[in-house]
Amino acid sequence: MPFNIQKIRKDFPILKRKVNGYPLVYLDNAATSQKPQQVIDCIVDYYSNYNANIHRGVHTLSQEATDAYEISRQKIQKHFNAKNPFEIIFTSGTTHGINLVAQGFSEFLKEGDEIIVSAMEHHSNIVPWQMLCERTGAILNVIPMSEQGILVFSEYEKMLSEKTKLVFVNHISNALGTINPIKKIIEKAHEVDAAVLIDGAQSCSHIKPDLQALDVDFYVTSAHKMCGPTGVGILYMKEKWGNKLPPYQGGGEMIAEVTFEKTTYAGLPHKFEAGTPNICGGIAFGAAIDYLNEVGFQNIEKHENELLAYATSELLKIEGLKIYGTGPDKTSVVSFNIEGIHPYDIGTIVDKMGIAVRTGHHCAQPIMDFYKIPGTVRASFAFYNTIEEVDILVNAVKKAKMMLS
Ligand code: ALA
Repeated sequence: MPFNIQKIRKDFPILKRKVNGYPLVYLDNAATSQKPQQVIDCIVDYYSNYNANIHRGVHTLSQEATDAYEISRQKIQKHFNAKNPFEIIFTSGTTHGINLVAQGFSEFLKEGDEIIVSAMEHHSNIVPWQMLCERTGAILNVIPMSEQGILVFSEYEKMLSEKTKLVFVNHISNALGTINPIKKIIEKAHEVDAAVLIDGAQSCSHIKPDLQALDVDFYVTSAHKMCGPTGVGILYMKEKWGNKLPPYQGGGEMIAEVTFEKTTYAGLPHKFEAGTPNICGGIAFGAAIDYLNEVGFQNIEKHENELLAYATSELLKIEGLKIYGTGPDKTSVVSFNIEGIHPYDIGTIVDKMGIAVRTGHHCAQPIMDFYKIPGTVRASFAFYNTIEEVDILVNAVKKAKMMLS
């Protein structure tokens, strides 16, 4: 469909509200996206008309809920171009998916094996692997990054050896906006038979990844970054890994047969989906994907790139302002500081003018340590943001600077 920003904005009821007496300017999309009416309606429809537990009942409501949940899984499979629907495991979000894989690999790693992560990971793609290393005696290596916030690929190549068992990198850095060259990273890892997990929490609202073309082993993301609800996400795993990895949690749904002597497990994807899932969330995730596809990923990318370019050039006109993450491949995230001013103070003042940005270390403390800063102010744009909102941000930052200098 043609990209009509004013029409799109009408789909998001929250964008009509005022904050501190000013129209809301929501620029914290990397933390979570806002929800269109279509997704809100889907949630209301589920709880109003066919709320029931799934895969468990012969009654009509249970069948309807089961069908909607499984149709949503197929939509997600198609969207990400996974080979089979059973390679899509519903999770509570990206962190859950990463922990599921990290726990599963406890059985396969031994002392001296090596794991590679990158210097620009979110804590959720660091801590589970550190815990895995503690359990197994494996060693964690870190791909360094440059001052621009770009991974040093040659260092990564040097790290790879027959000892490397796993590589974990985010598709897009939440704190810098850098888009990492994941296709090349995966190809190199596969040359030494290492498995690769890509953290797609920040990418899937901007880019439509083709999982088969990437040939990735694991890919994780969260619905709430993609106009869907919180508390639901997916872990994609290639069928071969799904068959190999042990279950993460025991409980209902993940079993084939239970006796006190022995339990056998269900096949994919149910083996990894113990307990009653977030049924409504899974269904609404499908509605969010429909919505994003209707807006169109080409339109999203083009509009967000315009916002990024404009915001970057206007913010850089402010004396003393420094942007972190200045590589050529970036998504619509601008992380910045003004010399001599704490990011928290800027965030607090612009909030008084109705502008939502995130301040702090963005759950990526190693990046802040690298730049020797306590944190940044991060403005992250979505396709429903406008050039006028960038102007409002820039003027508010100027005012904050005047008040704090
Ligand atoms: N990981 C999310 C962010 O970057 C919460 O804000």
